[in-house]
Amino acid sequence: MKILGIETSCDETGAAVIEGKTKDQPVQLLSNVVATSLAKHAQTGGIIPEIAAREQVKYILPVVTEALTNANLSIERPDIDVIAVTYGPGLIGSLLVGVETAKTLSLLWDIPLIPVNHLYGHIYASFISEDSGLDSTHVRETIPQFPALSLVVSGGHTDLVLLRGHMDTEVIGGTRDDAAGEAFDKIGRLLGLSYPAGPVISKLAEQGNPKAFMLPRPMWDSKDFDFSFSGLKTSVFNLTKKHAWDFSNGQNKQLLADLCASVQQAIIDVLVQKTLQAVKKYNVQSLVIGGGVSANSRLREKFDLEVIRLFDKNVTVYFPTPILSTDNAAMIASAGFYRDNTLSWKEVTADPELYY
Ligand code: KG4
Ligand code: ZN
Repeated sequence: MKILGIETSCDETGAAVIEGKTKDQPVQLLSNVVATSLAKHAQTGGIIPEIAAREQVKYILPVVTEALTNANLSIERPDIDVIAVTYGPGLIGSLLVGVETAKTLSLLWDIPLIPVNHLYGHIYASFISEDSGLDSTHVRETIPQFPALSLVVSGGHTDLVLLRGHMDTEVIGGTRDDAAGEAFDKIGRLLGLSYPAGPVISKLAEQGNPKAFMLPRPMWDSKDFDFSFSGLKTSVFNLTKKHAWDFSNGQNKQLLADLCASVQQAIIDVLVQKTLQAVKKYNVQSLVIGGGVSANSRLREKFDLEVIRLFDKNVTVYFPTPILSTDNAAMIASAGFYRDNTLSWKEVTADPELYY
């Protein structure tokens, strides 16, 4: 079965083609195209929804055309079985571009639609047969086995989701305030770094000492699986104010690197601690990490090491290949294949507030 995926929930415009054979093996990626309006948002330090939506309109048809062409498919009447499209959560203007395009193509080509929840997309990025480019613990020949636990860490979400089957899921924890990616972005803004700050902090942290500053590990000991990251942001704010640090014009380079390394470590420590407690409690076979923050190499290393240390080979960790950690349409097509709730175009509408 060939699926065209379309993703436009925020500032990325994605289209991809995947091929799935059976649900007990990974899907194959035939093409994956992502255009982003990030450069425009970097200038304003955050996403302006109206600008993101206008850029989506500009990119959508070229991106879909390129994805089909790269998969050697005709753009007139491609040989695909279904279109999977993100219908939420996200920015309404951006979502509408993908949803209405998918509905139009569905009508034009007489192909059904699968509406996909973006959050499940991040989970199913790890069901795509792509080498993660890291070490051999990132198995690609197999898919995660149930029961599995998923940590979705993105700009808007930090959720722990228990997966008993493709359509049997339960949210067991989430953030009470900022998401992990949001914490990276907001702290980056405090430090004068460009948006999105996650990758920038991660790069600067390579030269820094993660033990230089003892930052809080919020909710470390709480008996639930919830997170909180807004206190960390306040601590960094207070620290920079107290010492009147100035990072403009490349000043205090080592200090900035140390601060970035300490911030990154604090976020990772809490994510790993809480997630592994849940792995233990629910006795899962697989741990599936997805969302933009899962591109972080230090986070990957720490999860790999700790899972081996605590569970040996009884639990397998799955990460998407790094380019599929951030928003893309391949993960949407993948979720469409395994969750497979095919509808007519008339039944699909965008839902910006969608949850699991
Ligand atoms: O999943 P995503 O592309 O979009 C949402 O659905 O939100 O995630 C974007 C988030 C941003 O907050 C960004 O700073 C963060 O992922 N991010 C990272 C890294 N790459 C992206 N955070 C930490 N380290 C990274 N390497
Ligand atoms: Zn996302």
